[in-house]
Amino acid sequence: MKEALENLEREALSEIGKAADKDEFLAIRTRYLGRKGLLTGLLRKLKEVPPDERPLLGELSNRIKERIAGAIDAALEEREARSRTERLRQDALDVTLPGRTVQFGTLHPVTQTTAEICSIFAKLGFSAVEGPEVELDYYNFEALNIPKDHPARDMQDTFYIAGDTVLRTHTSPVQVRTMEQQRPPVRILSPGKVYRPDSDVSHTPMFHQVEGLMVDRDVTFADLKGVLQYFLHYMFGADRPLRFRPSFFPFTEPSAEVDIQCVMCGGRGCRVCGHSGWIEILGCGMVDPAVYSNVQYDPEEFSGFAFGLGVERIAMLTLGISDIRLFFENDRRFLAQF
Ligand code: FA5
Ligand code: MG
Repeated sequence: MKEALENLEREALSEIGKAADKDEFLAIRTRYLGRKGLLTGLLRKLKEVPPDERPLLGELSNRIKERIAGAIDAALEEREARSRTERLRQDALDVTLPGRTVQFGTLHPVTQTTAEICSIFAKLGFSAVEGPEVELDYYNFEALNIPKDHPARDMQDTFYIAGDTVLRTHTSPVQVRTMEQQRPPVRILSPGKVYRPDSDVSHTPMFHQVEGLMVDRDVTFADLKGVLQYFLHYMFGADRPLRFRPSFFPFTEPSAEVDIQCVMCGGRGCRVCGHSGWIEILGCGMVDPAVYSNVQYDPEEFSGFAFGLGVERIAMLTLGISDIRLFFENDRRFLAQF
């Protein structure tokens, strides 16, 4: 009997040693220790043993039962611990790894510069209006005192859409559209895209202008200069060299252009400024009476000035950009700097 008990223990322990998963351990427990299990089966035979041997065997069978149960519990626990460690290893999250940075977009430097220009003029009471990019020949040229065969049309090469429609070559048509709709006092700003067949370091076929127009009683060239100087001072700082240069536009008289000293060469002359030391940023002048006659304003009663700024040129100067075409290549390495 003793031997049978010891054999049973040995077999049970060796099965436990080979068992692969939880189900097998539970099956072993039932088979050896269950109510109808092998150990219980053996103990039934205890009554065939002489009475004086029974207590010792009873005690032995209890110890065997405990040892088998203990071995199963220990093995289950060890298995559980191992699988927990494995799980932790598999979904390990390394909190010391660098995070994935989110890429933020920024406003295009031309958009930023346009907004800055508008906000400076807003301080002087100029409010923004818009005009169409596909424009009638009438507004782009004729109403601005540039008749069909006028040589001034050569100043601005033109993309034609159809007979009398063009891609506007400047924002000046918005002057006419505004005055058709509104009586003086007028104080507007009009930012937008314009088009000309042009391309080099300081010219692109599409670029941006901001038009300004102020018409009221007694507006003089001194007002024009004062307003533009206020703007230029804010935009470029007080010590940036600039010059007003006499010029010609069919829709203004007298007319001027403003140049800012080239930031690339400090005025010595380089590729960017066409070796002149200056970069032209705007055209301006007193509105020509011929334009007023197209919008039924009385030139005896009202006077005013207009100007047209080149936004990319201003951005080149404030941001130190040596080729205007960089604005339109959409290279993120360039754009992300602003
Ligand atoms: C005009 O377009 C006039 N309409 C300006 C004006 C308005 C005069 C109101 C009087 C009254 P201009 O062609 O010079 O003028 O262009 C104005 C500015 O646009 C230039 O000073 C320059 O800064 C910019 N510009 C001109 N052509 C280009 C181009 N191809 N690419 C980038 N900027 C340009
Ligand atoms: Mg010009």
